[in-house]
Formats: sequence, structure tokens, C-alpha cells
Amino acid sequence: MKVIICKNYDEMSQKAFEIMKEVVINNPRAVLGLATGTTPIGLYQKMIKDHKENGTSYKNIRTANLDEYKGLGLESDQSYIYFMRDNLLSHIDIDLNNTHFANGLAEDGDKECERYNALLEQMPRDIQLLGLGSNGHIAFNEPNTPFDSQTHLVDLTESTIKDNARLFNSIDEVPRQAFTMGLKNIMDAKKILIIANGKNKAQAVYNTVKGEVTELVPASILQLHKDCTLIVDEDAGALIK
Ligand code: GLP
Repeated sequence: MKVIICKNYDEMSQKAFEIMKEVVINNPRAVLGLATGTTPIGLYQKMIKDHKENGTSYKNIRTANLDEYKGLGLESDQSYIYFMRDNLLSHIDIDLNNTHFANGLAEDGDKECERYNALLEQMPRDIQLLGLGSNGHIAFNEPNTPFDSQTHLVDLTESTIKDNARLFNSIDEVPRQAFTMGLKNIMDAKKILIIANGKNKAQAVYNTVKGEVTELVPASILQLHKDCTLIVDEDAGALIK
């Protein structure tokens, strides 16, 4: 795994942007695996700015998002599809029909997992962007998720519910379940870009980079990927210097 430690959040976002832009420029029909959370917001802002100022086009780009809360759809501003439109997709020239999500409102969870998984197989990702949970989760693959997992419905852990509560009016509103790509789907991407910032990610970053490759730390599987870059700010990188 290639590790880049940056001075601050802006530098982390800039480095991540450069890698993302290279993929889009080299292949205007690329498939991007995208992530939600507060970490990628700076990167998305740079993509929007670059699109507006330099005309980088997403006309033929396709995207697939990592995960979605069960029970939430576009009409909820807490859904991940809403987040992605608000923070990136509605501000670039991408065709929204080419942007894919697990459907949080699907009635039959198993069928929805099958549908999304089949879709992912048809559109291998050229790059997969990831954030990192403070417990080492990636997407919503919580500790103990099998490394060979595919799209599935998960019960969120207490620590993830607590972490994500800051974005809801109250902890009671945080959905308890979510659809997520599995670890195998993530590892199938040609290139992986994982970003993390802030002190509360330092231990998870250490476990991801220097720890044992174990299902207890889902992100540790990335040590086995051929082309994975981790970009962190100084706080998140404090234990791996
Ligand atoms: C959620 C998402 C993850 C994300 C994580 C970290 O649990 N499912 O994909 O990486 O939060 O979020 P943040 O970037 O806000 O710290």
C-alpha cells in the first residue's frame, strides 16, 4: 500500500483529487466507485471546481456508490443518494442515469443485494474511493465481515451509529441497517484510493497499514490490493510516521 501523509485536510483532498482526475482524463468512460461521509467532501468540491473552471467532463463517466441506509431514499436529505447529488453529482455534467446506488427503499433486501451485485459485476470500477470508519470499517463492512463478502444488508454497530449520529437530528433517527458493497466487491476495483483525516481515525489508520490482515479490521484487507493508495492528514497519520 502506498501511504501519503499530508499537512492538513486541504492537502489530503488535493492529492486525492489529482489521482481521481488522472483516472477521468485517461479514460473518459471510466467507472468511479464513490463514497459518502464528511471525509470526501473536500475532494468532491475540488472535482466540481475543476469541472467548472477547466471543463473536465463526466459525460460518459459511470459511478457506483458503496452503500446506502435501509429505509432512506432521495426524498430524505440523510440518504446517501441525496448526499451524492448535493455534494457532487448535480454539479458536474454526469448523466444521473449513469450513477448507481443500492435502493434503500427496496422492499426485498435480498433481491436488492442481488440486483446491485449483478450490476457491479457488469461495471468493474477503475477506481474505488473509500473513507475509513473509526473502527476500521470500509463502506459499511463492520469488523468481522468476511473478506469474500459481496453486496449485503448489515446491522450497523453501536460505534458506527454513534459516529454517524452527528449528521442526524438525534441518534434515534440513525437507521440501524444499511446496504453495502462487500469487501470482495471493493477489492475487485482496479485501483483503490482511501482517505482519512482527524485524530479519531489515527488508530484505525495504524491498524489498516501496520496491523495484521484480519477480518477484525476490515480495511486491513487493503494491504493485499495491488494498487492501493492511502492519503491521510497529519492527525490521522500520527501513529504511522
Ligand atoms: C460511514 C460510511 C463510510 C465512511 C464512514 C466515515 O459509515 N458508510 O463509507 O467511510 O462513515 O465517515 P466520515 O468520512 O464522515 O468520517
